Amino acid sequence: MGKVFVVTSGKGGVGKTTVSANLGCTLAKYGEKVCVIDADVGLKNLDVVLGLENRIIYTLIDVIKGNVSPNEALVRHKLLKSLYLLPASQIATKEMVSPEDMINIVNDLKPNFDYIIIDSPAGIERGFRNAVAPSDQALIVTTPELPAISDADRVIGLLENFGFEEDNILLILNKYKFHMAKKGEMLTEEDVKRALAIKLLGVIPESDEVIISTNKGLPLVLENENGIVKSFENIARRIKGEDIPIEQDLLSVNKNNLFGKFVSLFKKR
Ligand SMILES: Nc1ncnc2c1ncn2[C@@H]1O[C@H](COP(=O)(O)OP(=O)(O)OP(=O)(O)O)[C@@H](O)[C@H]1O
Ligand SMILES: [Mg+2]
Repeated sequence: MGKVFVVTSGKGGVGKTTVSANLGCTLAKYGEKVCVIDADVGLKNLDVVLGLENRIIYTLIDVIKGNVSPNEALVRHKLLKSLYLLPASQIATKEMVSPEDMINIVNDLKPNFDYIIIDSPAGIERGFRNAVAPSDQALIVTTPELPAISDADRVIGLLENFGFEEDNILLILNKYKFHMAKKGEMLTEEDVKRALAIKLLGVIPESDEVIISTNKGLPLVLENENGIVKSFENIARRIKGEDIPIEQDLLSVNKNNLFGKFVSLFKKR
């Protein structure tokens, strides 16, 4: 039976879809069978980030209407053959989906996958509740800014009200700027961890590579070996049960800036 994660945040634009796509790809790269579900009905992005928008035939709404089974609606990734997407429909609304629909769909898919990752829409309304309902664990994405942290805190409170144990709510700190944190101009990973008081699963640097890869529809973890790829690899390995210190993510952040690049060049000699 697959493990089910919801990737959520409260605040919009902090990187939920980026994390869902790249984490899905990284787990698939490690040979796991992964299904990513786009729960952002009405907007949908995950198909574009994965470069699969032209291959969609059926969507979540077709499944809910009973036109096809969840398995029949899946789109297989072009390069990562163990990664599948259940797409959202753009011409539907979040109110056309209920938490029970999502639970039924995920129960159908679970036996065929090692991991199911649900990309939640922004906010704490119906779409959020749909994404959370079938999930065992929540990955809360935040950036190191107060509005995002405050919304993340609210979402953690809601998840606890829904019955999530504290151990099943994990934090991912995205768009981390090493040079600013170092100069005290930005909250550090320790500050954020202390503010939200949940376990930190990983730190992902801010990187132009994300924008470049999104525009190509090629998830960046498939492309190159930079700091951001290392962060996703560390997060995927932690999910698989390996014990990798968070400092490893900060090392890769470090390698992303000029000083870090210089140090790593020097070390190679
Ligand atoms: N680590 C990063 N470095 C640089 N840009 C990033 C990073 N993560 C995400 N982005 C960019 O931030 C923007 C928002 O990301 P994304 O769409 O993943 O957020 P989201 O939380 O899913 O948004 P929404 O709430 O609208 O669904 C995108 O343009 C994406 O390319
Ligand atoms: Mg999104």
